[in-house]
Amino acid sequence: MTSNQVVILGIESSCDETSAAVIKNGKVLANIIANQDVHIKYGGVVPELAGREHQKNIVPVVAQALKQAGITVSDIDAIAYTAGPGLIGSLLVGSSFAKGLALSLNKPLVTVNHMQAHVLAHFIDAQPEFPFLCLTVSGGHTQIVLVKDYYSMEIIGETIDDAAGEAFDKCAKILGLPYPGGPLIDKYAALGNPEAFKFALPKASELNYSFSGLKTSVLYFVQDRLKADPEFVSKHLNDLCASVQKAIIDVLVKTFDKAVKKTGVASVALAGGVSANSGLRKAMNELAEKNNCKCYIPAFQYCTDNAAMVAIAGYYKYKLGSTASLTAAASARIGFDEIR
Ligand code: KG4
Ligand code: ZN
Repeated sequence: MTSNQVVILGIESSCDETSAAVIKNGKVLANIIANQDVHIKYGGVVPELAGREHQKNIVPVVAQALKQAGITVSDIDAIAYTAGPGLIGSLLVGSSFAKGLALSLNKPLVTVNHMQAHVLAHFIDAQPEFPFLCLTVSGGHTQIVLVKDYYSMEIIGETIDDAAGEAFDKCAKILGLPYPGGPLIDKYAALGNPEAFKFALPKASELNYSFSGLKTSVLYFVQDRLKADPEFVSKHLNDLCASVQKAIIDVLVKTFDKAVKKTGVASVALAGGVSANSGLRKAMNELAEKNNCKCYIPAFQYCTDNAAMVAIAGYYKYKLGSTASLTAAASARIGFDEIR
């Protein structure tokens, strides 16, 4: 491509989605995602199986992304990949593939932090003004991030135990729903009464979150009711889902609201897999309105893990001239400033 045309191939393989995307000048030309159904019967992601599925999927997924984008590998200016955080066996597949391709094409590599990619997913369809406050809620993380610039981000609050997505998935499991339970809770909650059941709302200090107590509260409540009526869960599934969803949203929104007031930002944003939740999207819009803030929520396809967010994050990093060496190591646990 010419010097003012930047084409980025993005690769995401941090957990159980193998994804490849092509963006040209910040616009998405293709975003292919292969989900891994192999984990459903285990009720959660099995790391070893995830790595093997990535091995199977990575070549066809990248090939499909290039085909859909109408480009060949020689059109790529840089290859951006998720270097962490995530499951190490999964990260190694994407990073090794990206390195091999970069080496063979003699093109630069850009390393991307998965959590920053979730935040930067907003820039696919919008241009939020800095600074803004982003609530990033995924299966592994829950963070309140003060976003000062594309690559200047500060975590001002986070979970001290389970992530919000984990809370959804664990409560869903207690209700007998398959993994990942978050989307199913969302679906049944739409048909239920959120005030039907009350659960203990977990608290954490300052701007932090805690969700492990909620899961325990739901577990004891359900076990207790099942003693009196073995059909309790199936009879009240919609109300149970609506009440669990309300509890998680109430906790998320209450602390985020404190953070908005404390920072005085003019814009708020929601990111990560749980940002697909319809109740949370609504609650976030209401919070923004009350605080007189602009509200940014990604399109559904950019909420859960996808390579378009990795490609856009890579695009801004590439424009800053920040490329990585072939010796860059993927890492399961890694902070915002540790990926170069
Ligand atoms: O960001 P993501 O795709 O992967 C991680 O980086 O973890 O987030 C996955 C999480 C899972 O816990 C899943 O249950 C949750 O996002 N999730 C939802 C919804 N869609 C996905 N939770 C609640 N409501 C949804 N609609
Ligand atoms: Zn994610």
